[in-house]
Amino acid sequence: RSCLKTFLCICSCMSLPDFCNSASSQQGEVESGTRRKLNRLLSFQRFFHASRLLRGLASHSPGSLHILDNDYLGQAAHMLSKVETWNFDIFLFDRLTNGNSLVTLMCHLFNVCDLIHHFQLDMVKLHRFLGMVQDDYHSNNPYHNAVHAADVTQAMYCYMKEPRLAEQLTPLDGFLGLMAAAAHDVDHPGVNQPFLMKTRHHLASLYQNTSVLESHHWRSTVGMLRESGLLSHLPANISQDIEQQLGSLILATDISRQNEFLVTFREHLDNQDLDLQLASHRHFMLQIALKCADVCNPCRDWELSRQWSERVCEEFYRQGDLERKLNMEISPLCDKLTDSVPAVQIGFISYIVQPLFQEWQRFTEPSLLSQMMMSNLHKNKDRWSRLWCVHAASETQPHSEDENKWIRRKGFSTEVDGSQKLFAQS
Ligand SMILES: *[C@@H]1O[C@H](CO)[C@@H](O)[C@H](O)[C@H]1NC(C)=O
Ligand SMILES: *[C@@H]1O[C@H](CO)[C@@H](O)[C@H](O)[C@H]1NC(C)=O
Ligand SMILES: [Zn+2]
Repeated sequence: RSCLKTFLCICSCMSLPDFCNSASSQQGEVESGTRRKLNRLLSFQRFFHASRLLRGLASHSPGSLHILDNDYLGQAAHMLSKVETWNFDIFLFDRLTNGNSLVTLMCHLFNVCDLIHHFQLDMVKLHRFLGMVQDDYHSNNPYHNAVHAADVTQAMYCYMKEPRLAEQLTPLDGFLGLMAAAAHDVDHPGVNQPFLMKTRHHLASLYQNTSVLESHHWRSTVGMLRESGLLSHLPANISQDIEQQLGSLILATDISRQNEFLVTFREHLDNQDLDLQLASHRHFMLQIALKCADVCNPCRDWELSRQWSERVCEEFYRQGDLERKLNMEISPLCDKLTDSVPAVQIGFISYIVQPLFQEWQRFTEPSLLSQMMMSNLHKNKDRWSRLWCVHAASETQPHSEDENKWIRRKGFSTEVDGSQKLFAQS
């Protein structure tokens, strides 16, 4: 027990954001390596817990990290029986599973989609892999944490169940969609790409200032896949293909590429030439579905949506505070003194979410879910507008949520196309 306490203490001391360590020197590399090892040890704990949880056993041993009540497990199981409902409360689910929402949700979805049987997956390896993914999310990020990953996974599942898609998706598509959703932000440092570039973070040079975070999420996922041996029983060309497709899906979540995807999506819809019998077209639609799932917060019920909005701004403001401390220019949307939650949300909805979901609604012809999402989107936007009026009235100098901010957010890249907007919420 005291051993465990020591580990926890060390971990909480070392849970500083990565960039604090590694911006400075090689020593940072060592520290972040140590942190990783500690994470692994903890992930082993979680693995034990997760496997007990999934067998329906609460862990009652005194001194256990996770004392779960059968009541909670019962409620979590009840929630899972309605996992495809759009107002699924992932925050509640995370509390009921004692912070294991991602592992628990993924195991459930792999079961209901029959993926374990289809790919002959080893349950021990699957738990090990999912535990690693969950633990490599930074729980101290207000937004980019494992709950966001679980939320995106739940949305992705809803989108893959859309009749137009569900009829055509193969087990491999289902596997790729869920895996990409679960891992798409793994080890996110809680700051955006421009910040990594200007602090000369090693990841920025490693990935040459292009899709820096997304490349890291993907390469980390591949690392964990190999470390867990989850796919080691499959022929090499198949597991390589899976790794490549996961990369293409995760890289599609780079919001600075939104325009590129939107243009292609619109063309397909205008020409009515999507043929979902073609693997390449199904892959494209998985990319779009994942992009939608990643930015779907404003399409949820207000109560859920509002919590995500506050969390994402909190993360932006933390970056802004850090920039202020380091005497750097404060990034767009990151200044707690001038950027308000309503203004950020109105811009995000107008320039990113609405354009994407308009096309998604067309694709689903439109489904009940799409209609519900669009209705929530409009309601939430109106609500933020009213709140913004109140906020702006109380300011001496009202600031606008002009499009320029969204363009500037793309930051330091010189090849910025003025029509593209970057938003690091994804
Ligand atoms: C990445 O961006 C930084 C900051 O703008 C710059 O100094 C560096 O040369 C860039 N690196 C590459 C590989 O383009
Ligand atoms: C893998 O190789 C086998 C035969 O060696 C082939 O039939 C199969 O199509 C290949 N699969 C992929 C995804 O490349
Ligand atoms: Zn994301």
